[in-house]
Amino acid sequence: MLLEKEMKLADVIHHDYNLVPIINRFGIMLGFGDDSIEAICKKEQINIDFFLTILNAFHDPQYLDNDYLQSFSASLLIDYLQKTHRYYLQNKIPEIEGLIKEMKSEFELDNVSYNLLQKFFIEYKNELINHIENEENRVYPYVIDLENAGHGHPISATLISRIKKYPIHSYEAEHEDVEEKLTDLKNIIIKYLPPSKSQRIRFRLLKELTVLEKDLNDHARIEDLILVPKVEILENLVISKQHL
Ligand SMILES: [Fe+2]
Ligand SMILES: [Fe+2]
Repeated sequence: MLLEKEMKLADVIHHDYNLVPIINRFGIMLGFGDDSIEAICKKEQINIDFFLTILNAFHDPQYLDNDYLQSFSASLLIDYLQKTHRYYLQNKIPEIEGLIKEMKSEFELDNVSYNLLQKFFIEYKNELINHIENEENRVYPYVIDLENAGHGHPISATLISRIKKYPIHSYEAEHEDVEEKLTDLKNIIIKYLPPSKSQRIRFRLLKELTVLEKDLNDHARIEDLILVPKVEILENLVISKQHL
């Protein structure tokens, strides 16, 4: 189903619960009544076209319309991607860590299994942090520099050499899957942790990991299929301006 601005946001959430964290990232808090997407965006001063694009991209994996997506500024896109990173690090990771601890205190896990799960999760967390730091410290600032240069700011020699040495294409090629290890973690929980009498928290943990996995997948798709093509256009633009 294509999500459109006339729809009531409440109906959209009833239709796809997974969109709750997305609307939250745009600063929309639950409790918005019967308002349409359009009315809420106006009230919250959100770019409605961008909001709808992100909602649709998360709602339907087939939804991608690159020509249209090029109309959004790279900084708008990066602001959104950074908010998503904050959501992973400040909300999801602590929630999952909390559930692992709770499993131990509620005797759903013995000491050996707890240590194994904890160790695996810490490794995963560090991998995710490195991935995010690399994007925020090396990739995103480069994109912003490119966008500024495309809008008439002076084009520095450093920027030109970066375009030549490490174009966005090299980021795309190395953009590894951070979801892969999450699948391994889910497998530990589903297949290998010894069964316990109560598995209440184990179910919650499995659910949280599944939700995070989907979110990370959608996030990576936005980076690969929206950000990268946009940056390739900017790189070509800056190179052609340099020769003027
Ligand atoms: Fe990212
Ligand atoms: Fe990424």
